[in-house]
This record gives sequence, structure tokens and C-alpha cells, in this order.
Amino acid sequence: GAYDEPYRGQFHFSPRGGWMNDPNAPLYYKGMYHLFFQHNPHGLGWDTMHWGHTTSPDLVHWTQQPITLEPGVHPGDLWSGAGVVDKDNTSGLKAGKKDDPIVVFTGTNGVTINYSTDGAKTFTSYDNGRKVVTPRGESRDPKVFWHQATRKWVMVVWSNEGGNGVDIYTSRNLLDWTFASRFAADWLFECPDMYPLPLDGGRTVKWVLNDASMEYVVGDFDGTRFATTWTAPQRMDRGRNDPGGTVYAPLTFNNMPKNRIVQIAWQPGNRGGSWTGNAGFPTELKLRTFSEGMRVVRNPVREISGIRTKGRSWSQRTITESPASNPLTGIAGDTYEITAEFDAAGATASEFGLLLHTRADGSYDRKVAYNRADQTLYGAPLAPENGRVTMHLLVDRGQLEIFGNDGKLSYSDNVNFTAGPDSQGISVYATGGKVKLVSLKYHDLERIWP
Ligand code: FRU
Repeated sequence: GAYDEPYRGQFHFSPRGGWMNDPNAPLYYKGMYHLFFQHNPHGLGWDTMHWGHTTSPDLVHWTQQPITLEPGVHPGDLWSGAGVVDKDNTSGLKAGKKDDPIVVFTGTNGVTINYSTDGAKTFTSYDNGRKVVTPRGESRDPKVFWHQATRKWVMVVWSNEGGNGVDIYTSRNLLDWTFASRFAADWLFECPDMYPLPLDGGRTVKWVLNDASMEYVVGDFDGTRFATTWTAPQRMDRGRNDPGGTVYAPLTFNNMPKNRIVQIAWQPGNRGGSWTGNAGFPTELKLRTFSEGMRVVRNPVREISGIRTKGRSWSQRTITESPASNPLTGIAGDTYEITAEFDAAGATASEFGLLLHTRADGSYDRKVAYNRADQTLYGAPLAPENGRVTMHLLVDRGQLEIFGNDGKLSYSDNVNFTAGPDSQGISVYATGGKVKLVSLKYHDLERIWP
């Protein structure tokens, strides 16, 4: 049936058919989350970009909508971009009493505008696809947001003028743009995003600038200029960050209730007979202070609770090298969530963690290991916090997301998990000694598809 092929995510958005790459113009409007995406509906590879569209009442259940932007109908190269809700009608594009204008920006080597006055059902090209920004160098992937302090719209767009970086433009009406400044950095390539985050949930607001590979720096933004003292970027997700990899091109939703910063990324590499690519599970971003400095922490949105069923929990178990110490004997699944906390400081095991999709003969599809000597989770650096290591896993049929220590580490991966009941066991394991499993929660996750 639809959305039921091997490796097809059951709680991750993917196009019903065809190719998807970058998320575009994620935004909230009147009780609905809208997500657009780079889409080729006619084949399984990248070709002739359209904007696909999907909507969700809760960031979790998605219903694919008709194609939004189509070559031949909407002029220009319909490449990646962002969208905003023009609640105050600054653009003057509002039509009578109809809905607020939703304005989306696309383009490569110049930015074009399309807008909707029917709640994102249909879009009209502004001024026959005239480019409203003249590119400097090679340029693409505009992200636009409202900057409350200066009461201006801000556009951040990748450009290679004199090297990698972003050009920043401002506007009062979304239509006329003024060049404001440039932030140059070698690492900064494609699909930039910029957004404010309160430091440790307090009054101090810092700005995060990230690129398609999910590298980021933290700094300050005054409405015109982004400044940072960071010399090297950090990585928000440790998955393989390239267009053929396991995570790329994230964007945060605009117009969010309560100023939440919710990000959705592209997971390249997942494919089946009828589609290629899917979205990662939406994550909420926060900024926290650690001994090494400020870091973005990234966790699945709390709306995941709406698809949790069959909760089970365990606590204070000693895990040894004996398979008999596995508390999850008898549990099986292919779409589930696990949160496990381990006492890393008190462990004698050199390595511990979870084995996914285990079989009776002891084999398995994937190991999620904490290595105590290296202080790595799934190969990425993560020191214990207060002696503890937590692993929060989202396991879907072709998608695996790992969040360590409350989102300090995140790792998006693709795994073509083996289907069938003989290959769906789960083990908590230890190698070379023991570890205390402080607590473990397990939930089945329901299928999201209509
Ligand atoms: C990133 C990207 C963007 C571009 C789009 C085209 O994956 O190359 O830079 O706008 O994809 O589909």
C-alpha cells in the first residue's frame, strides 16, 4: 500500500512519489504547519525543480498537498528558499479581506517572489518573476525573517562573492531590498539560516547562523550586521552532511507560536521503488552554556508524544556481557523510541549501548555504542554529564536519529533496516565489563500517514 514500502519512513515525511531534496519555506499559519520542498515529481533523481507542499496540524502527521510552484507556470529556477507570513500586509499584496499574504522566495543567481492570498493553496508570481535581488557572484537559497527590533524584513542569502559567505539584505515591504552587509566564512556553503535563541532560556538573546552542512556559529545581530567571536564553526548534527549523505539543508519554521525555533532537515539517501529522500524528524533548538562554551542543543519536538503508544520502562538494571541481562528481551519493533540513561562513570565496560534489529542468531543491523575510553557516542564526541550518558533514539524503517545527553549531540543516519518479525529484537549490551542502566523508556511510534 501507499507509504508502506521497505525503508519508507512511517513517522518521517517523504514525498508519496518522486524525488525530494531541501525543505523550503517551513512556516506556521492559522493552525497549520506548512512545509514545501525541492521536488521532482517525475523521477527518482534530482531534475527540473518544483516546490512540493505538505501540511501538518502538529509537526508530526503530514498530508501531501498539490504541487505549489511549477516550471512553466511560475517563472525562474524554482530552487531553495524561504517563506514568511506578511501579517501586517507590508507588501501590499493582500487581496481584499482574504488571507494574509504568504510570500515565498526562490531562486538561483537572483531572488524571485511568489505569493499566496488563499492560505498557501495557490501561488502567483510577483512581477512576472522579476528578480528583486541582483546577485553578487554565484548566489542562492534566500532565508527571510522579520526582525522585530528594527521592524524590518531580513534576507540572508548564500553568495560566493570573494569566497563563501552570506549577503544580508533588509526590506520594509518584502519587495524592495537593500544590501546591508556581508558575513564571509570559508565553511558557509548553501542554504543559510539565521535565528535568535535565548541563552539558557534567559534574557540574553544570541543569534545562530548555520549553513546546509549544519555547521554554525553563535553571535550577535543588530538588524544589519552579524558578528561573532567564533573562529571555527560547530556542527549541529554529526550525520554525514552533504547532498549524498544523511542530513543536509535544514531550515527553521517562520511565524512560530511562542517563538519556538523548530528546525527540519533533509535526509538524503533514503529511497525506495517510488520515492527518494525524506525529511528528518522536526527538532526544537535551544542554546545552552557548557564548560567549552555556548552550544546549540537539538531534540525531537515534544509533539512526538502524540504518536507514542505501548510505553514500557525499566530502571536500575545491571547490564553485563551476558545476553540474559538484556531487559528488552521479548520487545520487538521497527518504529519506536528509546531513551536510555547509563552510569558511564561507574561502568567497567569499555563499550555499552543498544543493538537494533537483532536476530536469534545474535546478529543485528546497527549498533549504537558509547565508547568510554574515546568518550564517543556512535563515533561522535560526547563527554558524560554528571557521570551519565543518555541515548535518545528514534528508529524508523530507513531512518535512525540519535540524540545524546539531552540533544548536546545529534546524529541523523540512514539505515536500511531489515523488515520482518525475525529481525526486530532490541538489546541493551555491554562489552568488556558492566554498566548500570539507570533508566530506559520504550514507546512504539504510530504511523503518521493518512
Ligand atoms: C542544496 C541545493 C541548493 C539549491 C537546491 C536545488 O541541496 O543545491 O543550494 O537551491 O539544492 O535543488
